[in-house]
Amino acid sequence: MQFSSFGEKLSSGAGILSLMDDLGKAMADGDLIMMGGGNPGHIPAIQEVVRARLQRILDDDQALRKLIGIYDPPRGDRDFRRALAALLRQEYGWDLDEDNICLTNGSQGAFFLLFNLLAGRTRAGGRRKILLPLAPEYIGYADLGIEEDLFVAVQPRIEILDGPYFKYRVDFDRIAITGEIGAICVSRPTNPTGNVLTDDEVAGLAELAAAHEIPLIVDGAYGLPFPGMVYTGASPVWNEHLVLCLSLSKFGLPACRTGIVIGGQELIRALSGMNAVVNLAPSSFGAMLTADLVRSGEILRLGREVIRPLYQRKRDLALAALAESCAGLPFRVHVPEGAFFLWLWFPGLPVTSGAFYERLKARGVLVVSGHWFFPGLGGGWPHTGECLRLTYSQDEAEVCRGMAIIGDEIRRVFQQSGH
Ligand SMILES: Cc1ncc(COP(=O)(O)O)c(C=O)c1O
Repeated sequence: MQFSSFGEKLSSGAGILSLMDDLGKAMADGDLIMMGGGNPGHIPAIQEVVRARLQRILDDDQALRKLIGIYDPPRGDRDFRRALAALLRQEYGWDLDEDNICLTNGSQGAFFLLFNLLAGRTRAGGRRKILLPLAPEYIGYADLGIEEDLFVAVQPRIEILDGPYFKYRVDFDRIAITGEIGAICVSRPTNPTGNVLTDDEVAGLAELAAAHEIPLIVDGAYGLPFPGMVYTGASPVWNEHLVLCLSLSKFGLPACRTGIVIGGQELIRALSGMNAVVNLAPSSFGAMLTADLVRSGEILRLGREVIRPLYQRKRDLALAALAESCAGLPFRVHVPEGAFFLWLWFPGLPVTSGAFYERLKARGVLVVSGHWFFPGLGGGWPHTGECLRLTYSQDEAEVCRGMAIIGDEIRRVFQQSGH
């Protein structure tokens, strides 16, 4: 069969495909310790809230019909968008209404539309790119461009902190916004590192974007205002030049596939047009299940009082297990300020991170090799081959078991190389 170059590019998306394949297999086998994917943990309190809402919908013929039997408009359920706009106005004073919001089938789908809307070949014959101002960055962006080489990434400054910690900082001296940059994009908290860009860093990027009349896209899939997996001081931000992408996945509804894009009205109009072409309409499910929670502000309280403390506790357990399993080894960990990942750095790792990933998989532990997370960054930085991403969202005893195997295997790797 002959595929188009677009088809070939999308169907061979090496990084995300191998990650999702591994994740699927691990979930199906049940034998592997899953410290790989981005699946959120199971939170009974959230499930109960959703169950109650679903029951109310099932008990109401009209609501059930709306849930399963009616296409929403291309920008998504109006009640939900209205409720969300009202909540954001009231909580943060953001000057927006429902026409600033478009729902998509997952935020992954939103990034596909946004990146290809703002970058790629232009009618005037130019080529525009998405600037990732701090690599490492989310693996899921890497293959989203219809055009090749859609991303330019910037190497960060590494700040060594007390204990085993380090932190990536945006290196503003390295950022060059040339005429070919169509948008800037950052995940906050960052997948894979758990970094949370400071308010000053975000303000600096927003200033740069505004000065060059391009949007700054902030991917808040794990962050602010919800689901709120942020364990450090950071404020939610939005203005008309900023595009905030949220998701209901990490709130606990990954199967509902609900992405939420909040942006200027011109951009939202364009996005909903694309949504109509690609999807006709986004799914109503997530919006209908959570509209009441948004209307009452309960979604923010659940983030603060249920989701954040739960993942913070999981993080602390994972850190304690890491300290024990890697005691005495040359390792550093990115300060985990948000999301549910630990990003380990083994300076001078004697094998590639890809080879180390395979060794761990052979011992029944699934992680993600760090080298995937540098889309758009040129070669030559050894650091890109020395890191590993671990997920601590799943069962805590399993995470501790996995951590012990990781420590043991890394010890073997260093011993075998004569360290
Ligand atoms: C940083 C980041 N952004 C976006 C997504 C996409 O999530 P979804 O399509 O489930 O909304 C993910 C998924 O793991 C992610 O980690």
